[in-house]
Amino acid sequence: MHINIFSSESALAEAAAERIIAQVRENAEAVIGLATGASPVAVYHAWGKGAATLGLDQSRVRGFALDEYLGLDPEDSRSYHAVIRRDAVAGAGLNAELVLIPQGSGDPEAPAAYERAIREAGGVDVQVLGIGRNGHLGFNEPGSPAQSRTRVVQLAASTMADNARYFDRAEDVPTAAITQGLGTIFEARELIVIAVGEAKADAVAAAIEGETTEDLPASLLQSHPNVHWFIDQAAAAKLSESVALVAAV
Ligand code: GLP
Repeated sequence: MHINIFSSESALAEAAAERIIAQVRENAEAVIGLATGASPVAVYHAWGKGAATLGLDQSRVRGFALDEYLGLDPEDSRSYHAVIRRDAVAGAGLNAELVLIPQGSGDPEAPAAYERAIREAGGVDVQVLGIGRNGHLGFNEPGSPAQSRTRVVQLAASTMADNARYFDRAEDVPTAAITQGLGTIFEARELIVIAVGEAKADAVAAAIEGETTEDLPASLLQSHPNVHWFIDQAAAAKLSESVALVAAV
């Protein structure tokens, strides 16, 4: 694992964006895995800005989102369809037609169709990930099998509590989602994990320095051959001194 700790979020975003841009420069049809959440937003903007500065043609870049709530209309501003269009597609300057997002309609065929689409695209070159306070990846909550594939899942209580800020009423917060599985995510050839803010400090320390366990899905990242962590100082606060010293950028 490559661990990078930054003192400013803009430096973090630029460094993470550089890795994505390097892939696109190498392959105009690169396949990028896209995460929702607040953490990667600055990265998407830095990516878009960097690509524009280089005059990079991104019209053939392909994207796959990690997850979607079950039961929200794709036009609903709180759906991940809307979030990915706004933050990732518009932020990074992607071709919306080439960005796929799992269907949260409850169609029983949707998980297998999504897996097939990723496979037919040749797999994901670089996957952007955030991390939940409980160590989840996508919507793979604690206890998710390491080999899991795209499927419908129930959300953990702590995840629903974290997501409640996006909904006016508690009863509107979705309780289920469709998510790429951990096995699906770990097939990406490179993983970029973004963690910002003190709320993530416990999960980051456990994921990087704790035992690898399905009880904390992000700890399973330790066994992936090509993981790059981009962490701000607040999220890095609970790492041991020896790790933090080496990782400071
Ligand atoms: C949601 C998403 C995750 C994301 C997490 C953290 O649960 N399904 O993919 O990593 O939120 O979001 P944030 O970056 O806003 O803390």
